[in-house]
Amino acid sequence: MAEFKQVSPNAPIGEKLMTWVDNRFPASKLYKEHMSEYYAPKNFNFWYVFGSLALLVLVIQIVTGIFLVMHYKPDANLAFASVEYIMRDVPWGWLVRYMHSTGASAFFIVVYLHMFRGMIYGSYRKPRELVWIFGCAIFLCLMAEAFMGYLLPWGQMSYWGAQVIVNLFTAVPFIGPDLGILIRGDYVVSDATLNRFFSFHVIAVPLVLLGLVVAHIIALHEVGSNNPDGVEIKAKKNAAGIPLDGVPFHPYYTVHDIYATSIFLFFFAAVVFFAPEFGGYFLEYNNFIPADPLKTPAHIAPVWYFTPYYSMLRATTDQMVYVLVALVGLGAVLAIVRGGFSGVAKLVIAIGALVAAGLLLTFEAKFWGVVVMGGAVIIMFFLPWLDRAEAKSIRYRPSWHKVMYGIFVVVFAVLGYLGVQPPSPIGERVSQVGTLFYFGFFLLMPWWSRIGQSKPVPDRVTFSAH
Ligand code: HEM
Repeated sequence: MAEFKQVSPNAPIGEKLMTWVDNRFPASKLYKEHMSEYYAPKNFNFWYVFGSLALLVLVIQIVTGIFLVMHYKPDANLAFASVEYIMRDVPWGWLVRYMHSTGASAFFIVVYLHMFRGMIYGSYRKPRELVWIFGCAIFLCLMAEAFMGYLLPWGQMSYWGAQVIVNLFTAVPFIGPDLGILIRGDYVVSDATLNRFFSFHVIAVPLVLLGLVVAHIIALHEVGSNNPDGVEIKAKKNAAGIPLDGVPFHPYYTVHDIYATSIFLFFFAAVVFFAPEFGGYFLEYNNFIPADPLKTPAHIAPVWYFTPYYSMLRATTDQMVYVLVALVGLGAVLAIVRGGFSGVAKLVIAIGALVAAGLLLTFEAKFWGVVVMGGAVIIMFFLPWLDRAEAKSIRYRPSWHKVMYGIFVVVFAVLGYLGVQPPSPIGERVSQVGTLFYFGFFLLMPWWSRIGQSKPVPDRVTFSAH
């Protein structure tokens, strides 16, 4: 136990109180470590506000969620009407509900931008691998949270969306059908499904999410923030051990983030008050119709933030599987001919490729679609080890890398757009090309990220006071 700190009997009451607390709980220590003496690089730009904004949206979702649960009924016969009751009869219920539904989309907008910032500035690279991995786990939780929350209003899209996605799990070889029943608690999406999704949505996943967010920030503060130059500020410290290019998080970045918060809330309020459905993207029109297990809607599409992955799922047709088999073969031949591997390694590669091709052709394309969709998220966990570029930040990487990241964004957006549209032959082809680009971007990164001439990385961050 640490020594008890003494305080003068004449000290102000505030100081006495704080000393009393600090002798029992490290309040001042935590405040110093994470706020007033957390030295963040002085060259943060607007990309660095999205972490705080994600925290803000998390709080909005939890607070509005608590109030929704007070009036919502997790029962297949009552759920839809209870949401309408919240919208029409509960005082301010419409505001709470629209904040929560808009918050879901806002969460994904903010988190996608936050992740992209990490990608362009190499924030996932040593020593921040765990910050990134916790982030990827947060993203998975967020997807689960949004998916299960969407079933709760028990509208047509809630019902049929859940039906489509849970049915995907039944495509898993051997255990699929049982897995489907385990998830639903029934042979079809039903009251049992609604109850378990409710339980996961309101308590299980948020608990994990909160734990991961705490771990994410502890890991970040252990190693310190990266910055748009990708220069480690801890490498250059003054005599007091403070990074020369660091500024205390509070007040410098609290002000920065409050400014961003006000701009964010301006847009958030505009959507909540004037366009909460956002043209059917944030709240789908079909979801204003109560769930009807006997009537399948003509066109079932997930909410926009899932559609890039949904496109990849739909792109995985039988033909696409043949392309994947060809790519596995090509990869193996290239590795054997040009990889410089030993004889035994070449044999292992050849056998591995044959097994992979065999598996691809044995199981149905639907299953591989699920693997592709899941793989698209899982692959992000490996980013710290895929990127071999000399410079961390896009600023100093070869210029053509900017083009690669630009194409990546366009491909992701096009996949998202196609995922909202009804299936079409041309859409299918485009999404297949997009899916191949997406995976090529990550899987071939160890190769392409080394190509080209990096620019000299400065010793200190670049910053000009405005
Ligand atoms: C609920 C969701 C999340 C919250 C509340 C959150 C919170 C934060 C905060 C407050 C920061 C410090 C401020 C900043 O750099 O913006 C941060 C940094 C970071 N986050 Fe997140 N985050 C979330 C999700 C994610 C996800 C999904 C990823 C990636 C897959 C991620 C990757 C990172 C990285 C790499 C950093 C360090 C950035 C740097 O120093 O350059 N985060 N996060």
